[in-house]
Amino acid sequence: MATRPVISFARYTTPKKGSVVLLAAEKGALGAVASGYDSGDTFKRLFSIADFSGKAGSSVDALTPHGSSIDRLVVIGIGKPAALKEYDWLKLGGIIGAQFRKPTEAAIVLDLPEVTIGGAEAASIAAGILLRAYAFDKYKTRKDDADGKGTKEKTAADAKPSKFTIQCADPAAAKKAFASLEGVADGVMLARDLVNEPANKLGPVEFAAVAKELEKLGVKVEVLTEKEMTKLGMGALLGVAQGSPRGARLVIMQWNGGKAKDKPVAFIGKGVTFDTGGNSMKPASGMEEMKGDMGGAAAVTGLMHALAARKAKANVVGVIGLVENAVDGNAQRPGDIVTSMSGQTIEVLNTDAEGRLVLADALWYVNQRFEPKFMINLATLTGAIMVALGQNHAGLFSNNDELAGRLTEAGQVTQEKLWRMPMGPDYDKLIDSKNADMKNIGGRYGGSITAAQFLQRFVKETPWAHLDIAGTAMGSPSNEISQTWASGFGVRLLDRLVRDHYEG
Ligand code: BES
Ligand code: MN
Ligand code: ZN
Repeated sequence: MATRPVISFARYTTPKKGSVVLLAAEKGALGAVASGYDSGDTFKRLFSIADFSGKAGSSVDALTPHGSSIDRLVVIGIGKPAALKEYDWLKLGGIIGAQFRKPTEAAIVLDLPEVTIGGAEAASIAAGILLRAYAFDKYKTRKDDADGKGTKEKTAADAKPSKFTIQCADPAAAKKAFASLEGVADGVMLARDLVNEPANKLGPVEFAAVAKELEKLGVKVEVLTEKEMTKLGMGALLGVAQGSPRGARLVIMQWNGGKAKDKPVAFIGKGVTFDTGGNSMKPASGMEEMKGDMGGAAAVTGLMHALAARKAKANVVGVIGLVENAVDGNAQRPGDIVTSMSGQTIEVLNTDAEGRLVLADALWYVNQRFEPKFMINLATLTGAIMVALGQNHAGLFSNNDELAGRLTEAGQVTQEKLWRMPMGPDYDKLIDSKNADMKNIGGRYGGSITAAQFLQRFVKETPWAHLDIAGTAMGSPSNEISQTWASGFGVRLLDRLVRDHYEG
């Protein structure tokens, strides 16, 4: 992994070396600390020639003051400070981090005229720096260079870490806020690692071992094997797994930070560590992307990490169904009929519609065992959700308006955006089957919706939401805080949901 930056918080001081980052509000307005870097009107003249007006996302390099030993002075525009929300501060951290491509030592001065930047905002900037610095380069033995051949230089993984000192009005408050937010950022990066990891390195067994590590944070982790799942009657999940020699696992993670008698909230993730499509095989082109078909399970694992690391005052269950959907003489065939743990039978008309089969048993298990306040499942479930929504919103399906509303709002705040999709009996009947209680595919149309209807048949009356993250968890467009193929989508969203509604 790229070397993780070291971040600390301090009061305002003029550093002797390294770089200095200053912030400017609209019209290039600088705080009082900036005058320490300008004995005359240098900034004013520079902003004018460089046409810098402090617009959000803009930046300008200034000359370091005469006689100073610092290497670099950068001014970053943030626009109207009062208009900045939680996500904007995180994004600002990403923008600042992007200024430094090589290992560096930098002071970031959070000082503006008239407004004070609080501890929470300073912590968001720090988290943004961490998320921006994330790279998936553990398998690169050579550093990329301009001609693409690679040099014998050390790779980024060996590089020494950047050091950022965030100077602010209340460093103690910032440090405290960051103690929580760093846990969330780590959860996001754990989810990214899991999704980026290739399937030869990360199958169901290896994934379960990563989840087991959460015990170090105080999470209770149980791992069920095929044998135990057979006893439970999980014929839908096991039918998917039967074509792979790599086994299947159901991992149950519990974080009990709430009151003992409080019902838990539950998160369930699709963890298909590779999806070939099985006998209904996928085309070769782009199949490598199916190493990310465990994005839902990764988000749930990352979320459990985040909640435990920041010691959330809530009882939370995370369950992930881990299988590989492989092709093999023993693989399930189109037309096979399996019996799910619920007792309902399923005609498997397409072995590539496997995620819903895994989730059917996982949802039923969670509902039976925990009777949770709600269940939210995450899954890279359908290509159709990308046709409908593109890559900037995940699909939201729910049987409960309050839960759907809270999720949508958390999506706005974290900018892990959701768009609610319709459900109903007209769609539900599309998955009725002649030969069994249901079939695992609908018709040609509304593929994401019929998938959701299928899942709903395994949730009964419990408030439930399904997030189809096929377009948002992987192949993610780069942005200020996410630069790799895997975004870690869902961790910040659900951490925010728990924080706002289910703690204390
Ligand atoms: N894992 C895929 C969905 C997917 C596709 C995720 C592309 C990310 C990118 C899922 O298991 C699948 O194959 N779904 C099928 C369903 C169909 C057979 C009804 C699909 O979307 O084509
Ligand atoms: Mn599939
Ligand atoms: Zn799949």
